[in-house]
Amino acid sequence: MGVDNAGVLLHLYYGRKTDADMSYLIRYTDRGFSGNPYALRTNRGYSLDTLPQEYSGSGVGDYRLPAVQVVSGNGSRSVDLRYAGFRITKGREPLQGLPFVRASEKTETLVVTLRDSAIDLDIQLLYHVYPDEDVIVRSARITNNSSKTVMIEKAASACVDFLYGNYDVIHFHGRHCMERMQERFALPRGITSFGSRRGMSSHHSNPFVILCDRHTTENTGDSYGCMLMYSGNHHEEFEVDQAGSTRLVSGIHPDGFSWMLAPEEAFETPEAILSFSADGLNGLSRHYHDIIRKQIIAPRWQQARRPVLINSWEAAYFDFDAQKILRFANAARDMDIEMLVLDDGWFGKRNDDNSGLGDWTVNEHKLGCTMKELSDRIHDLGLKFGLWFEPEMVNEDSDLFRSHPEWALRDPDREPMLARNQLVLDMSRQDVVDYLFSAMCSILDSTRIEYVKWDFNRSIANFYSHALPASRQGEVAHRFILGTYQLLEKLLSRYPDLMIEGCSGGGGRFDAGMLYYCPQIWCSDDTDPIERLEIQRGTSYGYPVSTMGAHVSASPNHQTGRAVSLHTRGIVAQSGTFGYELNPEKLSDAEKEEIKKQIRDYHRYADLIAHGTYYRLTEPSDTPDYCAWMFVSQDRTEALVNLVMTHVRANGPFPFVKLQGLLPERIYHLQEQSQQFTGASLMYGGYSFQLSPGDYCSVQLHFT
Ligand code: DGJ
Repeated sequence: MGVDNAGVLLHLYYGRKTDADMSYLIRYTDRGFSGNPYALRTNRGYSLDTLPQEYSGSGVGDYRLPAVQVVSGNGSRSVDLRYAGFRITKGREPLQGLPFVRASEKTETLVVTLRDSAIDLDIQLLYHVYPDEDVIVRSARITNNSSKTVMIEKAASACVDFLYGNYDVIHFHGRHCMERMQERFALPRGITSFGSRRGMSSHHSNPFVILCDRHTTENTGDSYGCMLMYSGNHHEEFEVDQAGSTRLVSGIHPDGFSWMLAPEEAFETPEAILSFSADGLNGLSRHYHDIIRKQIIAPRWQQARRPVLINSWEAAYFDFDAQKILRFANAARDMDIEMLVLDDGWFGKRNDDNSGLGDWTVNEHKLGCTMKELSDRIHDLGLKFGLWFEPEMVNEDSDLFRSHPEWALRDPDREPMLARNQLVLDMSRQDVVDYLFSAMCSILDSTRIEYVKWDFNRSIANFYSHALPASRQGEVAHRFILGTYQLLEKLLSRYPDLMIEGCSGGGGRFDAGMLYYCPQIWCSDDTDPIERLEIQRGTSYGYPVSTMGAHVSASPNHQTGRAVSLHTRGIVAQSGTFGYELNPEKLSDAEKEEIKKQIRDYHRYADLIAHGTYYRLTEPSDTPDYCAWMFVSQDRTEALVNLVMTHVRANGPFPFVKLQGLLPERIYHLQEQSQQFTGASLMYGGYSFQLSPGDYCSVQLHFT
């Protein structure tokens, strides 16, 4: 970036590293209908409308996407930002009330101050640099130095202008049970935008986007990522302008958002995690995997091997008592499963999904004992114990709602929108956060619980808080997520060894914000392994497999009815935080033996999978009949290759892949087949697979 003669902070270049002064890239020309600032009125080649901005203002002649929109005390909507100074410091400060990328030893911070002196508004652009992971983290702090309250209507975390080039965009859309589907297309002229207004990062549009060259592939070419570290309403916008320049703006979704900023107050945006790679999309993914594994996941969980769990949901749904759960635990122990998770249905009046949310008291009548007794019996078997909560929700049919109807988000003068027959609690209220904290603590204090599954099963509507005045209702969506983060923070401060797995009807809140608190997130309610190939592959563009909750479930699968072998189900779930979600009483002896072997394999490969380098080896458009991926150890002497057939063809070609990340000169042994190859032959010549025919067969190869 550079400051020009008018004091405007221009964005000069972002890409492959160079120490050169890149200001030569800026060209000035008089483009009709692109106006000039008053001080430069004689220079018709100078226009904010055509220059690349580091953080774009609004209403003063740059007609492209603004990064910030403010209504100042006199009603003006103009924001004209000029450079006012910078400082560079070692390390970084946390954000207030928001998750952030934790400092590494090498982190440095640059703060650039931009000022609109007409309305006494300062915007500090914060840049935290992570050289080892090759990541730049951006956010903005807006300070009102005037004597009047101002209203913020948009406050982006990052704005990046690409002066030249034609780009493809990749985004991750989806739906419940089919999250993070990758879509790529050439950015057209005009505005293209993605985002969520559901009060959650959402199944439908993940807060992660990629901009890449038209010819970028998995392993070659330039790409840029922008990941918002935020779990609420978000927006990713692109604009290709009159001259072909591309602007990216990312931040809190401005629709329905406003924030009153009194004199001397400041507003901080969430962080946007930016990265560039010249090594294709796999290269970009590696940067995100590294930053998430090293600087976002809590240090407590970075190296810890996650327990192999069995979850009661698809095994029993709401139909259980303690005896049944103990039978599951016994069977699980015999197969070397390490933790039993009791899912939805253990509290209040909860025998289906129409009632009980909010009443976090154990239903001892249903269980037939106390939760402590159940947990103790499970621990006596040598298993850990986990419990499901959905803290941010309430059913109308609950004691909590009957005593505190004002704690639900809802418009005063209309009936609320229901989903799964539940309402959303007003997490912007401190009394709600305090209630949930004490309700959860009373269970966690009285019962030995190593793990909590934190669910969130509907999109928010009726963003109206009974605790805020009319002028502040635009703050509800953001205050909601701040309340959720506060509750997570309080619980983890009190129970630092508690593992919280995020969940939102599967992967509806799979984002870097939640990963700051939750080292793993249930990837999808779709447990069909063939569908999971797509879901986990899409998720892998931004997020490491060590964060993806993945379980072996029953066959035929409960969501799709598809029958898939236990072997393939195991291979797919192993590329995640491995577990089971099926009724162990329905397993044959042979299946139980196979599961024991799967768990032995999981332990054998767990570190390679969790800490190794991950490569997508296939693209669905090139190889629609199979999906392959691999892990390479950090020292590159060990690799695990997985391939699953998604379509078997008679007399078809051999599935074939070129391996990645090996040492070309080294000899790799393929233990299973007593064969050996050089790294070069496996990477340049590739490897073809000879599989016995059958639906959805799979193979796993371990090279050392
Ligand atoms: C949605 C989750 O994704 C499921 O795994 C399960 O916990 C249900 N909610 C329980 O209601």
